Amino acid sequence: MIYYFSGTHNSRYAAMRLGSLTGEDVRFIPDTDPYTQAIDPNKDKSIGFVFPVYAWGVPPIVLDFIERLPELMVSNINADSLFIWCVATCGDETGMAVEMLRKALTKKGIKLSASWSLIMPNVYVLLPGFGTDPKDIEEKKLKESVGKINSIAEKVNSKAEEDDVHLGPFPKLKTSIVYPLFKKWGVNTKKWHWTDACIGCGKCANACPVGNISIAGGRPQWGNDCTSCCACYHVCPTHSAQYGTITKNMGQYYLKDQIQTNLNS
Ligand SMILES: Cc1cc2nc3c(=O)[nH]c(=O)nc-3n(C[C@H](O)[C@H](O)[C@H](O)COP(=O)(O)O)c2cc1C
Repeated sequence: MIYYFSGTHNSRYAAMRLGSLTGEDVRFIPDTDPYTQAIDPNKDKSIGFVFPVYAWGVPPIVLDFIERLPELMVSNINADSLFIWCVATCGDETGMAVEMLRKALTKKGIKLSASWSLIMPNVYVLLPGFGTDPKDIEEKKLKESVGKINSIAEKVNSKAEEDDVHLGPFPKLKTSIVYPLFKKWGVNTKKWHWTDACIGCGKCANACPVGNISIAGGRPQWGNDCTSCCACYHVCPTHSAQYGTITKNMGQYYLKDQIQTNLNS
């Protein structure tokens, strides 16, 4: 079983591809009730968690999902010695994100046996100094992801116990200082708005992984449950989904299904 979270589809692409290469079923965390999860010994060989790195940490929605996994599932995981692994997708570096995930799993009595980072195009656009990658870097990252995912799949299939994660410099400092600030102040939902360029296509609402956007009077309205994934911003065909004034001159990136198909062909 592979559980994943994704906003702009980098992690979705990795999870789907890993699912087809390992034979594991793939489930999207926001659509999955953790309380009903169970192990099928005839089907589940491993359990993987695939998620984007947020502020050198793990998206809270992923930690919350793990915290709520049922005890019976945990004891079956351990009884069947299931191989537990994770892939942290990131624009550059993970900081201590994987250690954060490991801690959450350990707290539940689950041992993380392998971890990998997967460097993918950057999507964070909500602070000055951040932004999408230049097109050549974006393409290079996507090209390199194909081989990396294949290699991760082989390792999952052979249950290779390894940690191959790009922590980046000063990982402990970054995670311990920035992640708590991100959790508290990371996004001000009131700053999301649409501009006159909005054509009311609803793509932002469809792309929001947590259903936080509704369409009223043909225009998007943001609720209070934003995970700050930026999918609404990146998917907008007219660049009209904006966060304050910060995103006005930022680039856009969204891993469309067609690109994923091309990468795998
Ligand atoms: C809120 C937020 C915080 C991020 N923080 C980091 C970070 O600390 N380090 C990093 O390398 N990339 C960071 N990124 C980039 C994403 O981790 C990366 O682009 C990821 O592959 C996006 O995954 P998704 O397309 O599945 O949502 C951040 C992105 C967002 C939206």
